[in-house]
Amino acid sequence: MVRLSRFGEKITAEAGIVTLMEDLGDALRVNPDMIFMGGGNPAAIPAVEIALHAALQGALEDPLLRQQMLGVYQPPQGEAGLLDDLASLLSREYGWPLTRDNIALANGSQSAFFVLFNLFGGEAGDAGGTRHIQLPLAPEYLGYADLGLAPNLFRAARPSIEMLPDRLFKYRVNFDQLQIDESTGALCLSRPTNPTGNVLTDDEMARLDQLARAQEVPLIVDGAYGLPFPNIVFEAVRPHWNDNTILVLSLSKLGLPGARTGLVIARPEIIQAFTRANTVLNLASGNFGPAIARQLLANGQLLGLSREVVQPFYRMRMEQALNIFQRHLEGLPCFIHKPEGAIFLWLWFKGLPIPCQQLYETLKERGVLVVPGHHFFLGLEDEWAHSHECIRVTYCQDPARIEQGAKILAEEVRKLYA
Ligand SMILES: Cc1ncc(COP(=O)(O)O)c(C=O)c1O
Repeated sequence: MVRLSRFGEKITAEAGIVTLMEDLGDALRVNPDMIFMGGGNPAAIPAVEIALHAALQGALEDPLLRQQMLGVYQPPQGEAGLLDDLASLLSREYGWPLTRDNIALANGSQSAFFVLFNLFGGEAGDAGGTRHIQLPLAPEYLGYADLGLAPNLFRAARPSIEMLPDRLFKYRVNFDQLQIDESTGALCLSRPTNPTGNVLTDDEMARLDQLARAQEVPLIVDGAYGLPFPNIVFEAVRPHWNDNTILVLSLSKLGLPGARTGLVIARPEIIQAFTRANTVLNLASGNFGPAIARQLLANGQLLGLSREVVQPFYRMRMEQALNIFQRHLEGLPCFIHKPEGAIFLWLWFKGLPIPCQQLYETLKERGVLVVPGHHFFLGLEDEWAHSHECIRVTYCQDPARIEQGAKILAEEVRKLYA
């Protein structure tokens, strides 16, 4: 028997993300031919793979870089040269007044969120009471759900749903539902949003920024799919940063999930707090991702690949997938969230006669893996039938496989509404 602490019990308890990842892994082992539309791996894009390989090779072939990459811990905040290069890139591109003091590295953005959520949420250090992390809307990234050391760390507001032509819809922040007060520790949102592909508008961002400032709490923006890299955004929106914003970026969706590299961009006092906590937890961040990033920065490929290769690739895949699903789901009460970014389609089956978890099981038996939507509705206090009517599919796969998957999905859903 393993006698766990309360923390041990909490972090090993049935977490949505763990169950789901295990289930997806098992399903693939049992049937390697599964049509895999679950999970969040980026697509293998040949031009990106070649560039990343060359960047790694470049770092390995230079004796000094190789020694720095393999044989030393980098400073807690990250190697100064890389921080300088990133700060000047972002200042040049967006006019953000950044220096190396505004940036810290992390071992993947997931671990950065663990630190940030627990720096700002939980038992309050000063005035007593507890503070929560407010999600301006749910559905949101399910990977946040179990990161809080304190119970019930998240609160989310139910969004409004705007119906659009062509059986599309869009979630909008419902500012009437959004409660921000002294129990709020920070606001957090992913832009583009995993799972929906929503990109909050510039106007929504400006209002959230104002609300956060008024309460003197930071606005955390998760740019794992966003601007400036990997730039999987299909709408003309402005990147958002100011001294009350904590922008969290990642190299994963550019094609480097194996490097486990995240970046935090915030005002210096927040970066110092983050760096101290990250040093306690990790000592230093890994060197592989930063070494590759430095090469890509030096030859302009970090933004170049994002804009010229990654974004057009996913836009093409998105358009193909949207067309495929709309064709197969014709005549069904199925609505698709307007895909404005990221690598997913979010399907809403209005009045679905069974919970989406059951639909997920049925599809798995038929060799199609999707992600049931209810996992993404974290932080909502009241039951919402809508949360059991949605599924997420990735469109990283080859369109021929997506076509097969959509056909099977449509067959199963049609039976339900018959
Ligand atoms: C919205 C979002 N944020 C953060 C992450 C974590 O990414 P990583 O830890 O690889 O940087 C993911 C991963 O899928 C994600 O989808």
